[in-house]
Amino acid sequence: MATSVNSAQRETNKCAMGAPYDGRDPDLLDRILPHVDYVEVTLETISEVKDDDIVLSEDVMSELKNIGKAAKIIVHGVSLSIGSHDGWSTSYLRLLDSFLDQIDVAWHSEHLGYTKVDGEHLGIMLAMPKTDEALDMVCERVSAIQQRYGLPFLLENIVHVIPDFPGDYSDAGFLNALVDRTGCRLILDAYNLECDAHNQGFSIPDFLDELKLENVRELHVAGGVEHNGFLLDVHSQLTRDSTVQLARQVVNRAAGNAKVVVYEFMAEAVPGLGYDNIETELARLRATFAS
Ligand SMILES: [Fe+2]
Repeated sequence: MATSVNSAQRETNKCAMGAPYDGRDPDLLDRILPHVDYVEVTLETISEVKDDDIVLSEDVMSELKNIGKAAKIIVHGVSLSIGSHDGWSTSYLRLLDSFLDQIDVAWHSEHLGYTKVDGEHLGIMLAMPKTDEALDMVCERVSAIQQRYGLPFLLENIVHVIPDFPGDYSDAGFLNALVDRTGCRLILDAYNLECDAHNQGFSIPDFLDELKLENVRELHVAGGVEHNGFLLDVHSQLTRDSTVQLARQVVNRAAGNAKVVVYEFMAEAVPGLGYDNIETELARLRATFAS
């Protein structure tokens, strides 16, 4: 009996594998496709300026359409700025409208943060204040997105670049309330949690104990660098064992609801990482999370 329970448990803890692709590097796509079930697309990186407007690159869209059944597409935005007090990015939503008109996706997602204040771009993404007022605002926007697209929508924890503004919720409490009120789901970025632990003294065990882990649909793993004592969330390296172990721990506690692990790396990091290392890393991670 114990054996069958354990094997059933193992079965539900299996995760698919994903990797980002920003287009214009068909050799990279050929290398990653055999190792992934999902391709993560960030619309801002596949866009270009045309006639004073920002539009999706037709060349990259053709590449993505050609993926066909080889992998599912998931959209991961960076510029919606869902946490800006004075409104979100309508130009991002136009890109998303255009993308979803052309390509089916499994789900789409954004980061729980803001990149603009009073219409000015910050050049960085900051974590939201965790107040009742901020929660009301984000919940309203999440509901609007869910109604607009009729697709599962996920939000991701981002790093805390600066210490938190005093709020009404803990990090986990804010995410729990967000999910309870909207039915959205979560991306948990294991490397971001490690950055917060290193830089801000954030307690990962306390966070995981409080967070309703069954709401985690997607995990991110990545590797970055330490600079002046800070662990940076620049995705330029292979993953550390600690990051993979943390992600594995979350998957095991997510009651079978964590469906995919995405190994994130920036397009700019590809020459430094090398195709061979990326392929080996994806194969290693796939084996780790598929069992
Ligand atoms: Fe991430």
